Amino acid sequence: MSANRPASVVKRRDALIRLIEDARRRYYDHDAPTISDDEYDKAYAELVALETRYPDLVTGDSPTQTVGGSRSEMFEPVEHLQRMLSLDNAFDDADLVAWAGRVERDLGAIPALLCELKVDGLAVDIVYERGQLRSLATRGDGRVGEDVTYNVRFIPGIPRLLKSTKSHAVPELIEVRGEVFFPDDEFTALNDDMMSQGRSPFANARNAGAGTLRQRVDRREEEVAAAGEIVAAQTAAGRSTERSQGRLTRALEDLDRATRRLGGLQLVVHGVGARRGYEPATQSEAYAALRSWGLPTSDRATVVAGLIGAQEFIGYYGEHRHDVEHEIDGVVIKVDDLATQGRLGSTSRTPRWAIAYKYAPEVVRTRLEDIRVNVGRTGRVTPYAVMTPAKVAGTTVSMATLHNADEVARKGVLIGDMIFLRKAGDVIPEVIGPVVEDRDGTERAFVMPTVCPDCGTRLKRARDADVDIRCPNSRSCPAQLRERLFHVASRGALDIEGLGFKAAVALLESRVVADEGDLFDLDAQRLSAADFFTREPKRGEAGRQLSENAKILLEQLARAKDRPLWRVIVALSIRHVGPTAAQELAREFGDLGLIAAASEDELASVDGVGPTIAAALREWFSIDWHRDVVDKWRAAGVRMAEERLDSGPKLLDGLTVVVTGTLEGWTRDAATEALQQLGAKVSSSVSKKTSCVVAGENPGSKYDKAVALGVPVLDVGGLVRLTTEGLDAALNG
Ligand code: IVH
Repeated sequence: MSANRPASVVKRRDALIRLIEDARRRYYDHDAPTISDDEYDKAYAELVALETRYPDLVTGDSPTQTVGGSRSEMFEPVEHLQRMLSLDNAFDDADLVAWAGRVERDLGAIPALLCELKVDGLAVDIVYERGQLRSLATRGDGRVGEDVTYNVRFIPGIPRLLKSTKSHAVPELIEVRGEVFFPDDEFTALNDDMMSQGRSPFANARNAGAGTLRQRVDRREEEVAAAGEIVAAQTAAGRSTERSQGRLTRALEDLDRATRRLGGLQLVVHGVGARRGYEPATQSEAYAALRSWGLPTSDRATVVAGLIGAQEFIGYYGEHRHDVEHEIDGVVIKVDDLATQGRLGSTSRTPRWAIAYKYAPEVVRTRLEDIRVNVGRTGRVTPYAVMTPAKVAGTTVSMATLHNADEVARKGVLIGDMIFLRKAGDVIPEVIGPVVEDRDGTERAFVMPTVCPDCGTRLKRARDADVDIRCPNSRSCPAQLRERLFHVASRGALDIEGLGFKAAVALLESRVVADEGDLFDLDAQRLSAADFFTREPKRGEAGRQLSENAKILLEQLARAKDRPLWRVIVALSIRHVGPTAAQELAREFGDLGLIAAASEDELASVDGVGPTIAAALREWFSIDWHRDVVDKWRAAGVRMAEERLDSGPKLLDGLTVVVTGTLEGWTRDAATEALQQLGAKVSSSVSKKTSCVVAGENPGSKYDKAVALGVPVLDVGGLVRLTTEGLDAALNG
């Protein structure tokens, strides 16, 4: 067989083994991975495929024959009573079906399956003897792990004593397997804390968990004791204790930090190893017993009858991955019956009775090719990452904002670095940080430009405390002009169909408009000067014709002139003034002229406005060409005052309403406008003062808060009644 094995295969095998072993070392021993889980899994799958094709290549110490992980010298070794295995992976439905096919072939049918979440944490082995915790160990190489028992006293989530119940007596001995992890909120708090101390954050919750569990708290306690003794001895001898006090303080802080970190760890139990005096029939039954003894099991674990049930479970958590309070990287499907597990058996590395279904990775590695800057509509200069396109959480990503120069420095990324890139669900892509180990010296630091990349004007740092850098040429910087014009048309502002980014660029480049002030003076004749808005003549037509899009634009512009005042305010691109502040201003003043004439104090006293926005408004109106824009819009017929048809009392005067969730048949804006026109104040947060909450589908936390505070909740029907008959009718109808 070796005769028809090309030399390149051996070379490739060796390269894969090196990569996998290196990755394992960094992952398990240093809690700092340098390749993503996905890359690891791919390399591993390639090695398996290669070894399957050329079986004589398989050696006993190949990573495919061993369980990843090893022990560090930092901890005492503990031999597990039973070997800790790993899991085979399925990356798609075909892999899962293939696994189920093998199970069915061996058993003749698919047995009941236990579906669980695959917690992205750190595997541990806990031994209880007569209910007393005897040891807590990391997995290590699967046979021997590291003894971290000392730390258990600081982890509230791991019981030190099991309690018997009527139905389940605590057994003489039980070896429990589980996953130690940080819930998302603890992880975020920990990383914030790390960064506030100027230390680099953990790349993910798993590393943070591993780094936390593997802290030598005992050594820190010894250091506190040693420093304390020195202080005491110096005090007794009447000597200065200044330096030793410093050492003691640092040691105490260090200990405190270590134990507080441990306090955030949680455990979820997902298996049993050796046992004496207890023989469960199924794994789910074992969980019930473990739970009754006080061990944390997952309440999401579900027994299903067949493969379809497992596929549904996988589908459900693929959609709801982020509703879980901790990271998951997939789902584990296990044969529930323990005797059947025994029949199926295990390879040297993994059981045949279980499979891990892995979701698309949400953290990948890619190259940071460049850092460029973008100039926004208020002149803010924002650096952003340009990356080698990478598939993450199901979509291909090549750009991510870096917010500001301080953020680039904080993340510590250099141009040319390999970086970790994250995209959680449908959340915005985010650069996590560099793979420092991969640097070869060719990387270079990003330098924030000192002049605007679009117009060459010298950039300014806005105020002392402000991290933002701005291009002060707001009047004619092409980037700001484009962005402002585009913003006028956005959905949160005047909502003008036909004025997308390309149209905005075309209007400016063809000089059909000089700035946003000219927008509402557009007519067919002016538009026809821009190629973008015209088309070739058809037969019988004389000369170029206005395109369909141009016609839509003109129609939409005419309509936009009659939008509510708050939308006009938003469209002006005044710093800090978004829809909420604009609505408050429109309600309070009812007229743009009055807003322009108001003093800073008058503006600041408006609910939801405050000093920053008030100052921004005054500053904005103090500039001539800004006032010109307003004048031009007014002259072109844009409505500059709230419509006050009847000045008498309105149906919903004095009410504060919160709208949340998806309302069938209504957009959020439409509901808000309907309520406001009837005199209600529409607020974004629920308080005791809220008159009622209108909640549609998936209302989230605002609904919960309303219920907690006893604020009445209305559905879509209630909204209709509210806007036609008033609050009493809506509540009693
Ligand atoms: S069962 C023999 N169940 O995933 C069965 N493992 O990639 C071994 N893991 O080493 C494990 N959640 O550390 C099991 N619900 C779960 C799990 C789980 C996370 C970890 C475990 C294992 C690794 C394999």
